[in-house]
Amino acid sequence: MSNLLTMNQLTNEEIHAILEDAEQYKSGQGWKALDTVFVSNLFFEPSTRTRFSFEVAEKKLGLQVLNFTAEHSSVQKGETLYDTVKTLESIGANAVVIRHQQDHFFDDLVGKVSIPVINAGDGCGHHPTQSLLDLLTIKQEFGQFKDLTISIHGDIRHSRVARSNAEVLTRLGARVLFSGPAKWQDPLNTYGEYVEVDEAIQQSDVVMLLRIQHERHEEKASAQDYLQQYGLTKEREKQMKQHAIIMHPAPVNRGVEIDGELIECERSRIFKQMENGVFARMAVLKRALQQIEQNQEVMKHAIY
Ligand code: CP
Repeated sequence: MSNLLTMNQLTNEEIHAILEDAEQYKSGQGWKALDTVFVSNLFFEPSTRTRFSFEVAEKKLGLQVLNFTAEHSSVQKGETLYDTVKTLESIGANAVVIRHQQDHFFDDLVGKVSIPVINAGDGCGHHPTQSLLDLLTIKQEFGQFKDLTISIHGDIRHSRVARSNAEVLTRLGARVLFSGPAKWQDPLNTYGEYVEVDEAIQQSDVVMLLRIQHERHEEKASAQDYLQQYGLTKEREKQMKQHAIIMHPAPVNRGVEIDGELIECERSRIFKQMENGVFARMAVLKRALQQIEQNQEVMKHAIY
């Protein structure tokens, strides 16, 4: 079963294969569905990039998209996630893409449903397809990960992007630095060294900013002074290495994590990340679904 739940379930070889497939899709080539294959997108949390780049990826692959909205579904009548996915499987979905506010929502599904589950973000847990599109963006820029210094800035504790990226970047040979307010440090994420913001920015090949996740805070954090204390100001941007790039998974709190004028500056790869999201997700869907088509071929041969 080709689930994609966390980055640490993928070997380095599998990661490189997905990135190669993504590049192939970017060049206009690659596997497409021959038969009718249904994929359902279940988003229990808000999303613009992940949701629509999955939908574009699915349509480019020739898949039939079943869009599910929790507020118009029987979830409103108390149906559980497991019963919802089991229902979609019963009526013909061949895979599900799920974003959910519960960390490790997939523990309720793995081994109990027979279709691939793709994690589009679980609470403060993991965001593997964001991580893959980030890796694709870094690889396009530098050709490799080894010996790069990548600093991750901000709300580390609540960030599924930081969790997914820090582990895999370290595993692929990069050096990870963390920077941000002490209250948002994450003792469980041991893949980076905490340093002061100016030091992190001066040392980095990639400056990766994170959104302040107000929706996951018990007390609303003040955005006042955040840019000056912890964010990427125009003064700090001038301190970056000549070749260094700026990344942010977005949505961006303009003028908080980053000065609004830097979002589309020459160093910024923020919109490139979004573009790459379609190709990375095409590669992930291919990995999940190719097996189904092969099984259908076997079935056809068995029948005729
Ligand atoms: N980066 C990201 O996950 O964006 P969305 O929440 O808009 O999907």
